[in-house]
Amino acid sequence: MELHEPTFKGNELKYIRKCFKDNLITFGTFIGKFEKAIKKYLKIKYAVSVINGTAALHIALKLVGVKSNTEVICPSITFIAPINSIIYNNASPIFMDVDEKLNLDQEKTIDFIEKKTFFKNNFTYNKKTKKKIVCVIVVHVFGNAANITKLVALCKKRNIKIIEDASESLGTKYLKSNLKNKFTGTIGEINAISFNGNKIITSGGGGVILTNSLKHYKKAKYLINQAKDNNVSYIHNDIGYNYRLSNLQAAIGLAQLEKINFFLKKKRKINQIYKSKIDKIKGLSILPGPSYAVNNNWLNILVIDTKKYQKNSYKLVKKLIAKGINARNIWHPNHLQKKFVGFERHNINKSLEYCKRMLCLPSSNNITQKEIVKITNILNGK
Ligand SMILES: Cc1ncc(COP(=O)(O)O)c(C=O)c1O
Repeated sequence: MELHEPTFKGNELKYIRKCFKDNLITFGTFIGKFEKAIKKYLKIKYAVSVINGTAALHIALKLVGVKSNTEVICPSITFIAPINSIIYNNASPIFMDVDEKLNLDQEKTIDFIEKKTFFKNNFTYNKKTKKKIVCVIVVHVFGNAANITKLVALCKKRNIKIIEDASESLGTKYLKSNLKNKFTGTIGEINAISFNGNKIITSGGGGVILTNSLKHYKKAKYLINQAKDNNVSYIHNDIGYNYRLSNLQAAIGLAQLEKINFFLKKKRKINQIYKSKIDKIKGLSILPGPSYAVNNNWLNILVIDTKKYQKNSYKLVKKLIAKGINARNIWHPNHLQKKFVGFERHNINKSLEYCKRMLCLPSSNNITQKEIVKITNILNGK
């Protein structure tokens, strides 16, 4: 049983056949259609589809001015892609702790900005390194909308840009505060989403850059297309990237996006089944989503009360894998990864503890009740 595999229930084959029939594999009309559908669903002005979520993050950071001698605030717990994107842009991460929903800890981030930085000539600088802090990457992990209302306000005052990584939270929407009715991925200056095969919808591999700024949109389109200034005579006035999404991938993505509400409903149901079964096991629970948002329930996170349950997450994942269940640990904290240990961190004391007592349970759109019962029986020691 996989952690998260895709489900194809809609127009995927029909659209792929059309690509082949028209002989439009690399370029073609599905790219524009997919981008239009994303914009409409998320209620955002501009969308640029790209080859994957990591490429979207690379470009998003570049567009807000992340470069050498600048710094980016980021969470310690996230898939490594957003951290790598900081390094691709030759900048330095400043690692923050996470809250109990495993997202960037808003209070500690505000504490860092207020105590450890200074504001000069309309920019924020790190007191210790004197480097400019360009942006904060907010990653909404496992479908949980990050708690960012106060942070958004402070960053606006300090001219620190917000970049959202909503790769795992497509369909998650805020319910309260001035973010009410906004989808994750539509709040920051430029945002990124992945359509990797393990996400709530997939284009095989793919991603999107989202923004409300025409200037960012135009530059993103240009950079992902090898910075091509002239299509015929091949003039390139900047260093570009071959980051375009293919027509074939966009065709799959469009068919998947047409089914997003169906997938979200399925996800809610899967979460409810897990919850009802796990709540009966002493020392175990399912991490609830934050009350201020509607969650897309991408992955179900098992929380272990290690005083009441005999195994920590590492032992439990091993046991599940041995029984053919591809559960996974929470990502190893990034401030402890070999290549990142030398970078600044601020008051991190929760990340490792959460890793020890939380893990990811298989949560594919098509997981059956029978499969969930099999998993919960193993957790129950049966
Ligand atoms: C939070 C997050 N950001 C970025 C990525 C990277 O996306 P991709 O695999 O499409 O490059 C992923 C996962 O794939 C992710 O989970």
